[in-house]
Amino acid sequence: MPRDTKYFKIIGQEVSVIGLGTWGMGGGYWTRDTSRDAQEVAALRRGIELGATLIDTAEMYGAGHAEELVAQAIKGFPREELFIVTKLWPSHAAADQVEKAARASAKRLGTYIDLYLLHAPADVPICETMRAMERLIDLGIVRHIGLSNFGVEAIEEARSCLSKTDIAAIQNRHSLLYRRDERTVIPYAARNGMMYMAYTPLEKGRLARDPFLAEIGKKYGKTAAQVALNWQIGLEPVVSIPKASKIEHVEENVGAMGWRLSREDWELISEHYSSYL
Ligand SMILES: NC(=O)c1ccc[n+]([C@@H]2O[C@H](COP(=O)([O-])OP(=O)(O)OC[C@H]3O[C@@H](n4cnc5c(N)ncnc54)[C@H](OP(=O)(O)O)[C@@H]3O)[C@@H](O)[C@H]2O)c1
Repeated sequence: MPRDTKYFKIIGQEVSVIGLGTWGMGGGYWTRDTSRDAQEVAALRRGIELGATLIDTAEMYGAGHAEELVAQAIKGFPREELFIVTKLWPSHAAADQVEKAARASAKRLGTYIDLYLLHAPADVPICETMRAMERLIDLGIVRHIGLSNFGVEAIEEARSCLSKTDIAAIQNRHSLLYRRDERTVIPYAARNGMMYMAYTPLEKGRLARDPFLAEIGKKYGKTAAQVALNWQIGLEPVVSIPKASKIEHVEENVGAMGWRLSREDWELISEHYSSYL
């Protein structure tokens, strides 16, 4: 179980255990759409106001526009309390591309990057990318580096390329309906002091409609979505990054932290979804 139900400590900094995802904001797969900017910025600002200080984005989301929306959303909040994560697309993983891509992300974000992830394995030798990412720390563009969509063996290989730093975090898919990392990457991250960021934690909203979770939530005055997320952050060292463009969804999701399911209910939920392990 995390030591705290609101924060996770990553290399000296407290990060909220419920973060704010941004996939679909500002457009889609390398396509930009500005028609919902005001609503999306408002949703992110509401999340930050309520204490969700971990924000996840990527250069690919909305062809960079999601990063620009994050820049608008963080205006006026103390920068040192935020933890901004963005990702390098695999087509930019060659040594001569990494710095350019990171500088472009930081420019769109209007600030440095707390955590820079390789979005997925690339067609470039992993050591080439890792060494280029490591240099970004010396350049002051990023504070930590990590990986997304990697298994244990590939993480080990990437770590072996690093000389000055280590992988600070892994971001993979995990939810009550997608649990294979509980046997592999999650315990590995725990053993090695890495943060595990769970993406698609609500299965795109499906878990918010789950009657079993809704029933358990009644005794806590919590919704199915809140129960699903609270169960997830009960796993060490997991933080969850649901995406919500609707203010009421953001408020609901942030309400998944700051309390705890009983051990008995946590185990009951685990058992109910054990076929997804
Ligand atoms: N590293 C990777 O390869 C990778 C891959 C996928 C995702 N991610 C990251 O993880 C984040 C989350 O994953 P995701 O966006 O795929 O899926 P998700 O968070 O499981 O689901 C997002 C969907 O659920 C809805 N929703 C959110 N809160 C809700 C609530 N309380 N009740 C009902 N519906 C709710 C949202 O609706 P509204 O938007 O309408 O509010 C949206 O349609 C992404 O945004 C992205 O930052 C990373």
